Amino acid sequence: MGRGSGFGKAILFGEHFVVHGVPGIVSAIDLTVDAEVKRNGKGISVRDERKGSKGYTERKKTQQQESIKRMLETMEINLEKISLEIWLGGNLPVFSGIGASAASSVAIARAIAEEFEMSLPDERINEIAYEAEKAYAGTPSGIDNTAATYGGLIWFRKNLSGGPNTIERLNIKEPVEIIIGNTGVVADTKKMVAGVAERKKKNPKKYDPLFKEAERLAFEARKALEEQFDLRKVGKLMNENHRLLQEVEVSCKELDYLVNSAREQGAFGAKLTGGGGGGCMVALTPGKELQDAVAATMEKEGFKVLRTKIGIQKI
Ligand code: PMV
Repeated sequence: MGRGSGFGKAILFGEHFVVHGVPGIVSAIDLTVDAEVKRNGKGISVRDERKGSKGYTERKKTQQQESIKRMLETMEINLEKISLEIWLGGNLPVFSGIGASAASSVAIARAIAEEFEMSLPDERINEIAYEAEKAYAGTPSGIDNTAATYGGLIWFRKNLSGGPNTIERLNIKEPVEIIIGNTGVVADTKKMVAGVAERKKKNPKKYDPLFKEAERLAFEARKALEEQFDLRKVGKLMNENHRLLQEVEVSCKELDYLVNSAREQGAFGAKLTGGGGGGCMVALTPGKELQDAVAATMEKEGFKVLRTKIGIQKI
């Protein structure tokens, strides 16, 4: 049997814009999807025991099947000759927006590699997971699989000419508390990504300045995190990033509601995270007390909340 894991993530700056070559900042979170793979049975069977948003597993089934096929092709494993039993579990809930698909692709790629006694470096696992992500996101940037593979706090820029992407580890003074609030709405990243691309093409006059602004925000945020460690400024930039995401029409009333709730409770900043159209939001809540206050307000209203940190050294 082969085993593998992949990290969940929260995009702090630049989702959607990153698909078009704008830099993004992503933090892996200390929760993983775990996979086990056995050569057994007939065809490819998946036992997905991950917990999370209602309906997520069913809604993603077809995309999951396609993603596994893509992975096996990339790994040059002949689909006609093999049968695989795949189990998925781990402590990363399947909420939209926190990289559950990329984390599962990384976990499965690692487990298959172990089962087939292939010794693959992380760079190769990341490439395989990127191919798998196309089933879920259409034209993914690669930011999700990169965070799921390497962990940590990462500066990511997609190379639009097909060359290697920019992947740089960011170091911050100390880990900082965040909360991730789930609207409970399962979203389709592929549709959301395609929608932005379509509107951008149709309306460059509106969209070009927004993309420029997203790029400026990413560079400012990097400075505020790494050089200045100015968390108030980071929060303010997150708020500005949310406004841009509203402008490109990927937020929704449930996300705006949770973003406002977090700000009212004193979060330094809050924005949607990931593909939007439902799924999750992230709020910067330095200190355990603020983190608990922001989380508790949402939990009282029945929303599921993750309490975690960015910049943890071991992930
Ligand atoms: O919703 P998620 O967790 O799949 O994140 C998608 C992030 C996007 O920027 C919208 C797409 C991408 O590939 O970068």
